[in-house]
Amino acid sequence: MHPLCKVSELGEDAPLECEGPGGEAVVVVRSDGRFFAAEGVCPHQGAPLADGEAGVDENGEPTLTCCLHFWSWRLADGAPLEDAEESLRVFPVREEGGTLYMVSDG
Ligand code: FES
Repeated sequence: MHPLCKVSELGEDAPLECEGPGGEAVVVVRSDGRFFAAEGVCPHQGAPLADGEAGVDENGEPTLTCCLHFWSWRLADGAPLEDAEESLRVFPVREEGGTLYMVSDG
C-alpha cells in the first residue's frame, strides 16, 4: 500500500493533490465519510484536478469537475458525466490509523 496523505489533511469536498507511488499526481477527495483517489491530471488538456470542484450527481454519488472546461466524473468508478469524453482513472484506497493509502492491484 502506498501512503497518500493524512486523513486530517482532507477537508470535506476539498480535492487535495497527493503523490502516487511513481511520483505522479493523484487527487484525493473526502466526501460524506468516504475517500476517493483518481489521476491528478485531467485527461482532456492536463489541468490539475486538485483545482477542480467536488460535488454529487443526481443520485447523490460524489463527483469531481475539472476547473478548466468542466469535464466531470463519478468518483466511485471514474465514469464520465455530461460533456466528459473520457473516463477518469480511479484507484482503490483504504484508511488505516489516520492515513489514507492507495491499495495496489494484486
Ligand atoms: S483540461 Fe480538464 S476539462 Fe479540459
